[in-house]
Amino acid sequence: MSQQIDNVLHENRHFPPAREFQSRARLSTEEAYQRMYRESIDHPERFWGRIARELPWMQPFEKVLDWSGAPFAQWFTGGRINASAVCLDQHALGRRADQRAIVWEGEPGETRTLTYAELHLEVCRFANVLKARGVKKGDRVAIYMPMIPEAAVAMLACARIGAAHSVVFGGFSAHALRERIVDGGCTAVITADGGWRRGQVLPLKPQVDEAVEGLHEVHTVLVVKRAGNRVEWRDRRDAWYHEMVADVSTECAPEPMDSEDLLFLLYTSGSTGKPKGIVHTTGGYLVGAYLSTQFVFDLREGDLFWCTADVGWVTGHSYIVYGPLSNGATILMYEGAPTTPDAGRFWDIIDRHKVTIFYTAPTAIRTFMRLGDDVPRKYDLSSLRLLGSVGEPINPEAWMWYHREIGRQRCPIVDTWWQTETGSIAITPLPGVTVTQPGSATRPFFGIDAAVVDDKGHDLPADQGGYLVIKKPWPSMLRGIWGNPDRYREGYWGKYGNMYFAGDGARRDEKGYFWILGRVDDVLNVAGHRLSTMEIESALVSHEKVAEAAIVGRPDEVMGQAIVAFVSVVKGVVPDDALREALKEHVAHEIGKLARPAEIRFSDALPKTRSGKIMRRLLRDIAAGVETTGDTSTIEDFALLAKLRGDEE
Ligand code: WTA
Repeated sequence: MSQQIDNVLHENRHFPPAREFQSRARLSTEEAYQRMYRESIDHPERFWGRIARELPWMQPFEKVLDWSGAPFAQWFTGGRINASAVCLDQHALGRRADQRAIVWEGEPGETRTLTYAELHLEVCRFANVLKARGVKKGDRVAIYMPMIPEAAVAMLACARIGAAHSVVFGGFSAHALRERIVDGGCTAVITADGGWRRGQVLPLKPQVDEAVEGLHEVHTVLVVKRAGNRVEWRDRRDAWYHEMVADVSTECAPEPMDSEDLLFLLYTSGSTGKPKGIVHTTGGYLVGAYLSTQFVFDLREGDLFWCTADVGWVTGHSYIVYGPLSNGATILMYEGAPTTPDAGRFWDIIDRHKVTIFYTAPTAIRTFMRLGDDVPRKYDLSSLRLLGSVGEPINPEAWMWYHREIGRQRCPIVDTWWQTETGSIAITPLPGVTVTQPGSATRPFFGIDAAVVDDKGHDLPADQGGYLVIKKPWPSMLRGIWGNPDRYREGYWGKYGNMYFAGDGARRDEKGYFWILGRVDDVLNVAGHRLSTMEIESALVSHEKVAEAAIVGRPDEVMGQAIVAFVSVVKGVVPDDALREALKEHVAHEIGKLARPAEIRFSDALPKTRSGKIMRRLLRDIAAGVETTGDTSTIEDFALLAKLRGDEE
C-alpha cells in the first residue's frame, strides 16, 4: 500500500486570497466557512433542507434524507421538481429573461448568443420535437453531439419531458456508442451531421448509423444540422431537427418529476472492462450542482463562466449546464480545439468575450505551458478573476504557471476534486477563504465527510498516504450503476461497508488539506479522461492477431498518463511496425481516439505470478523505464524480463 501511494510532494508555497477578491467574496472568513461546514456535517438535514428550498419545487419535499436503504440514498423524498424549469423558467419568466444564458463560439469563428428567454423557447420547442417523435417520460435518450448550443438544449429538453439523457462524448467510437445505447436501453439518439474540430468537419451521423445498425429499439435518430457534411438517411428512423421544429408549438410545460426520478445516465470507466452507467437522479443532483457552482466559483452578477469541458463528461453536465444555469449565470461554450487556428485561441476567446471565470484541466494547462509564455502574454486577460482546475492532480509547476501566466498573480485557483460518481465538486478551496497550495485540492466542500483511511478503514494520521473515502451520503451522490445494483454495492461500498470508496489514493496534511495521489485501481487517467485498462485490453484481444494484452500507464508530461500496451501475438504472426499501427488503429476504432495506445511493446508472453495474475507493477516499471527493485521471485520466466526491457531499444 505505502509503495503504491507514495507521498512525493513537498510543497510549501502558500497563497492566501487576495484582499480585493476577498472583500467581495460570498464567503470571506474562516469562521463563516467553519460554521457552514460544521452545520453541513453535524446537521445535514437542516443544512441541505435550507439550501434545497432555494430551488423552485413544484411540490415541497417531505424528508431531506432517507438513508434506510443504504447504500442507496434518497434525498428530498416526496418532492417534485423539474431540472429544466430550475435552469430556465425561474430566470426566463423572471428578471433574467433578457440576460445572456449561453454565449457560443464555433471553431470557424461564428458566434451565437441565447438569452434565458431564447434558451427557454428553444428548449420548449426541442422538447416538443422529442414528444412528436414519441419520446416520453421515463425513456432514455442518447445524445452524441458536438459542442454547440443544441447539445445543452437537447439535455434540457429531455429533462423537461422527463426523459433521461445519456450523453456520450463525440470522440467515442461507434462501437463504444452502441455499447452505451444498448446498456442504457435508449430508444432515441440525438446527434448532428458533424462538428468542427481542428479545422475539419468531424462527422457524427455516420458513427450513429453504425452504432444503431440493427437495433430495433432505437426508433428515432434526430439530427441537428451543424457542419453541412453529407449524411446517409433512413427515412422512418431519421429526422432533421430543423424540419421538425417548424411544426411544433413553443410551449411545453415542464413535467413534475419525483426528486428521485432518473435525470441522467453517464458512462464512466471502472476497473472491469464494461463501462458503468452512473445513475443520477433529479433533486439531490441539482442541489449539489447549484450550491457548488455558487460557492466554489464565487458566482456574481455579470460573470461570464467558461468551463472548457465537453458536455460528454460530468464536468460539462454539472458546470456547463446544470450548475451555472440553475444559478442564472451566463456561460461561454466553445466548439473546437484549444489550438485552432493557433496556440492563442483560448486566450483570444477570454480576451474578446471578457470571460471572468475559467475552469479547465491540468492536461490543457500543461499543453499551453509547452507552447510558450509569449502566447498568452499577447492577450488581455484582465477580465479573469477566478481560475479552476479539474480532472487529475495538477502538478505544482503547472499550478504556478497557471497562477502566473493566466491569473497574472491576481486570481485565486480552485483545484477541484470530484468524480462522475460524486456528481458535483467534493474537495476544493473556497476562493475567498482558503489559503491555497499548489497541488492540493485543500478541504472538503459542504456536506462532504471525507477522510483518508488504511486498508481496514481506520483513519490515518496526518501525512500518511491511504485511501480516500467519504463517510456520509451527500445529495448529488450517484444512486447506483444502471442495471447493476450489486456492482454499485460491491465496487463503492464493499471495501469498507459503511464508507464510500472513491478509488483514489490521498494523504491529508496537518492542516487537514487533501493531496490527491491518483487512482489506486486499474483505471488510467489520460488527459483527464478515465479509461479502464481492462476495456483497452479487451479491445486489443478482440484483434485476431493478439493472444494476450496488458495495459499500464506511464507518466507523461502533458497527458498525466500515457497508455502503454504489452502485447503477445498468436502463433505464426510476426509482430512488426505495421501490426503496431494496426493495433493502435484497432483500439481507436473500438473505443475512440482517446484510448489509442502511445506505445505498443511486443513480447512472447506476459510476466505472470504463479497464480496467473499479470504482474502490472513490473510492467509499469518497465514502461516508465525505471529499475524494478521489488520482489520478482514469483515471475515465471526471468528471461522474459530482460526481453521486455530490451524491446524497442
Ligand atoms: C481524478 C472528473 C486530482 C480522480 C470530475 C477521480 C482528480 C477521477 C481531480 C474522476 C483533482 C478529478 N485532483 N485528481 N482536482 N479531479 N480527479 O469521473 O482520480 O471523469 O477519481 O470526473 O479524476 O474522473 P471523472
